[in-house]
Amino acid sequence: MEQRGIHGVWANRWTFILAAAGSAVGLGNIWKFPYMAGENGGGVFVLVYLVCIALIGIPIMKAEVLLGRHGRMSPINSMNYAIKEAGAPKAWAGIGWMGVAAGLMIMAFYSVVAGWALKYVWTTGTGVFTGMDSSAVGDQFSALLANPGQLFLWHSIFCFMTAGVVALGVNRGLGSVAKYMMPLLLASLLTLVIYSFFHGNFAAGFHFLFDFKIERLSWNGVLAALGHAFFTLSLGMGAIMAYGAYMPANASIGKTIVTVGILDTVVALASGLAIFPLVFANPPLEPSAGPGLLFVSLPIAFASMPFGAFFGTLFFILIALAAWSSSVSLLEPGTAWLVEQKKIRRVPATFLLTGFSWLLGITCVLSFNVWAEVKPWFLLFKTPFDFLDFLTSQIMLPLGGLLIAVFVGWVMKKQVVRHAVDEQSPLFDAWHFILRFISPVLVALVMILTLIDSFKDFS
Ligand code: PHE
Repeated sequence: MEQRGIHGVWANRWTFILAAAGSAVGLGNIWKFPYMAGENGGGVFVLVYLVCIALIGIPIMKAEVLLGRHGRMSPINSMNYAIKEAGAPKAWAGIGWMGVAAGLMIMAFYSVVAGWALKYVWTTGTGVFTGMDSSAVGDQFSALLANPGQLFLWHSIFCFMTAGVVALGVNRGLGSVAKYMMPLLLASLLTLVIYSFFHGNFAAGFHFLFDFKIERLSWNGVLAALGHAFFTLSLGMGAIMAYGAYMPANASIGKTIVTVGILDTVVALASGLAIFPLVFANPPLEPSAGPGLLFVSLPIAFASMPFGAFFGTLFFILIALAAWSSSVSLLEPGTAWLVEQKKIRRVPATFLLTGFSWLLGITCVLSFNVWAEVKPWFLLFKTPFDFLDFLTSQIMLPLGGLLIAVFVGWVMKKQVVRHAVDEQSPLFDAWHFILRFISPVLVALVMILTLIDSFKDFS
């Protein structure tokens, strides 16, 4: 195992926390969480999501970090290491492969949305929104979606930015982005929540997010919440495993990941609290507006806020940065593997993988205009953008997470696991129990019940 640790180690435990939080906090929290909550009935979705984070996300995150730190290599090779050690069938390595594929597929649609944010840095910065009414703000976004050339341009710029950081490698590239971004992001979100409190319909927004109405619960909504728990914590595809491989040996895994999980959840809830009061105060807007929700509701606030152009620009810069520090982790598993296995240098490896996602991303660019009505059966009657999102977030990540839980919980020897997490406390046994009996069972149950429910819809 002479290849162990060739990619370097984080400077210290905090760099790991920042990098993992940088991966977790992204478009998933600020863009996706609010619009999914809006589409899936608000409070019900939020509650299921919180349960999934606590009972499934955090325990599986611990398993992923420990697999990475145990093997000290790319997810594929860290898995190979643990498989060999446990004497398990080689097929388990599929977890790593599926993860690399999921990362590249997520990158394809992620970079298109990150491109919208980049474009909006420009739009808010030049004062376009100042004094605009809400329907004009909406038209502005529709016009962007209708323009494939613009979408392609910003998608390409974002892919290039991501490749640049991944090419620089662990500490210089990945470690440094999150350090300044996270505090600034939290401060701006707080500012926006305060603004919404005074200028939006805060009570309506709050009730929408936190009132639990059981009749709004559907299996599809539950699967969406489960999938989102994986997506938002960057789980089930090896990103966190890859980052775990660079974690110092003496750092406590448990404390670290709970910090990341809490930070991620706070950012998501704050985004919801910033957005929904504005939605309810501007009647043409609907909570269920879909992917455009963020890009329509917030500019309305910036249009009428004092120094709105300044705050708007700052906010979209932060969203773009958050997306950037997440997207690098989408490419890291594949890149690290190419470097280890194929003896390709980091720079060409990065550009090879980014190139793939960039090409696939073009289908997502077209999903909003030229191909908006093309929803073939083999994409389950969805546009390429919606299909890639569905396939990765709601199928591949939960499945990857389920397999990781089963592998660490059942296939690896408990002694080896205990040694790898380096933890003696009774919390270890509790975690190991949850990982064996609760997390995988819940994931499997939700996936099966949703499937049965979907068949019922068809027939
Ligand atoms: N967690 C990121 C977000 O919320 C997205 C992501 C998913 C990143 C999977 C890496 C792996 O935006």
